[in-house]
Amino acid sequence: MANNILRHLALIMDGNGRWAKRRGLIRTRGHERGAEVIRDITKYCAEHDTIETLTLYAFSTENWKRPKYEVDFLMRLLDRWLEKELPTYHKFGAKFETIGNIEVFSPKLQRRIAMVKEETKHYTNVTQIMALNYGSREEIVRAVSRLNRKGEEVTEESLSRELDSPYSDIDLLIRTSGEQRISNFLMWQISYAELFFTDTLWPDFTPRELEQIIAQFIDRDRRFGGV
Ligand code: FPP
Repeated sequence: MANNILRHLALIMDGNGRWAKRRGLIRTRGHERGAEVIRDITKYCAEHDTIETLTLYAFSTENWKRPKYEVDFLMRLLDRWLEKELPTYHKFGAKFETIGNIEVFSPKLQRRIAMVKEETKHYTNVTQIMALNYGSREEIVRAVSRLNRKGEEVTEESLSRELDSPYSDIDLLIRTSGEQRISNFLMWQISYAELFFTDTLWPDFTPRELEQIIAQFIDRDRRFGGV
């Protein structure tokens, strides 16, 4: 009887645009609603007994290809959201972290990100890692380059340490909206993760559905290559 422990959960939050379109709304309304869901899911994870880390795919290196107004909107939304949500990070005891290259963001947004990290760094109920301007291939290439520059041998251990996200392997990855792709997300870290795909669009995703998926995860037979 399996009894898996979920420590690190990762989410590909997909379907905001379709959610909005189905309601005759502009796509950005879907992103606004999607941001609210992040709060509910973070609260759930902070209160969960075993979840230590929640990694969210918020903006990929490929997302720059979207129309400029949508990219600008997402940047402003992130800034406003971090400003508005800081009290909830305090309330939930959630530590905010990021992975990905944020140096290309506006100085204002970078300052906001740094401030929320600083203010929440002592919290331990959950670490919420937002992947921002993140791409897994780029992360791996940057890590290997750093090891080369330092003259260090590239091994599984040294490379794992050198990644933007030297946290822990992912136990469970969920993608919403029916797409069954990884889309350059944490490819190194999901080597042994259990994968779940749900048709629910991200703005409709709830802690209740997450709980149901976790119940299935707990019962899955994880062998890590053994028998
Ligand atoms: C995918 O929906 C969603 C994203 C671009 C990333 C997730 C973004 C959010 C949840 C909102 C960001 C808010 C904060 C505060 C980080 P999509 O637009 O690809 O949907 P579609 O596939 O239906 O078009």
